[in-house]
Amino acid sequence: MNKKIIKNKNIILCVSGSIAAYKSIYLSSLLVKEGANVQVILTESAKNFVGESSFSGITHNPVITGYYDSKTSLSIDHIDIAKKADVILVAPATANIIAKIALGISSDPIVGSILASKAPVIIAPAMDGDMFKSEQVQKNITELIGFNYYISGPEKGRLASGMNEFGRMSEPDILFEEIISIFSKKKDYEKVEAIVTAGGTIEEIDPVRYISNKSSGKMGIEIAKALRDRGASVTLIHGKIDSAEETQGIKKIFTKSAIEMKNTIDNLVDKCQIIIMSAAVSDYKVKNISKEKIKKDSLDYIQLEKNPDILKGIDGSKIAKVGFAAESENLLINAKKKLSSKDCKIIVANDITLEGSGFGSDNNKAVIVDLDGEESFPLMSKSKLAHKILDRAKKFID
Ligand code: C5P
Repeated sequence: MNKKIIKNKNIILCVSGSIAAYKSIYLSSLLVKEGANVQVILTESAKNFVGESSFSGITHNPVITGYYDSKTSLSIDHIDIAKKADVILVAPATANIIAKIALGISSDPIVGSILASKAPVIIAPAMDGDMFKSEQVQKNITELIGFNYYISGPEKGRLASGMNEFGRMSEPDILFEEIISIFSKKKDYEKVEAIVTAGGTIEEIDPVRYISNKSSGKMGIEIAKALRDRGASVTLIHGKIDSAEETQGIKKIFTKSAIEMKNTIDNLVDKCQIIIMSAAVSDYKVKNISKEKIKKDSLDYIQLEKNPDILKGIDGSKIAKVGFAAESENLLINAKKKLSSKDCKIIVANDITLEGSGFGSDNNKAVIVDLDGEESFPLMSKSKLAHKILDRAKKFID
């Protein structure tokens, strides 16, 4: 974690009225210690939990408490600080402030600052567990995600009510790390439209049975997240994947079979600059899918026919194509062959026989091959590998 990145950054820390407000005092101290310029906005109800002087003492900045304060150089404080902000953090964020932000009800300086600023926004909800689960709060949070705001937490733990539920504000250390990660992110894929495929396709045999594979979709999901974080607009076209993964801000389209995946890609590919095909596409499909469940005595023979090679069929002169090669032998030779036979800019090759790497694992060991040569990476997280792939692919869409 590169803490230095936070130095001289203008951070607005918005504190609304929850008992978790005391944690934000410590957070402001963590930020100031690393050289950030922290400007605190306190809502009226937050003042019931924490005092202005705690924050002004730590940040050495006057605390904004009202809409018409004029403690900074311009006459309307929240507009002044909003224009200078590098990030806005709302922590703790109550159900009330979340609703106001979602609707843009600018009756206090927090909403006013968010609306007047182009800085990224992090929201750290803190409230009763049932309140957090309520339809209204969930709807408002979905709205905020749609504005590309980062939602941090809430965590599960003991709440003021004594309940053990999701409602605890993210710990200051976590929020500190999230701020750092926002500043660390490259935005080199801004204005890029990308397609990522992930997971295993499903080829039906009959209403009960199907042919699929061991792909978890983790690699593709990490690539989609890395693209999103680097500014791209991403469509994730996926078969069977681990749906618990966080995919905020990514458009997801489920496609069952290879043919469905191909049709969906064909419809979108013209407006995209890059496609990264990490899906494990079934090479064969069932020739005659049975409408009725096949009796077990008649199952010893299923006639298969070849699926189209989706990646190969895409025109490589119009879009940067990145393919995957999951191999159990002759890794590099096969990867180089695929680079030309599928007309790809890059092939990411991995040896699926290696322990702790490949299907279902959180890690991967890969070689990235393009016409300029190959780069072999040690075992690393799929998230880290996703960024390595994007670092390499960037030159093909400039
Ligand atoms: O030929 P092979 O299946 O090893 O190629 C793997 C690459 O080709 C992957 O990127 C995969 O997503 C893609 N593929 C495809 N259509 C197929 C089979 C594989 O696009 N029918």
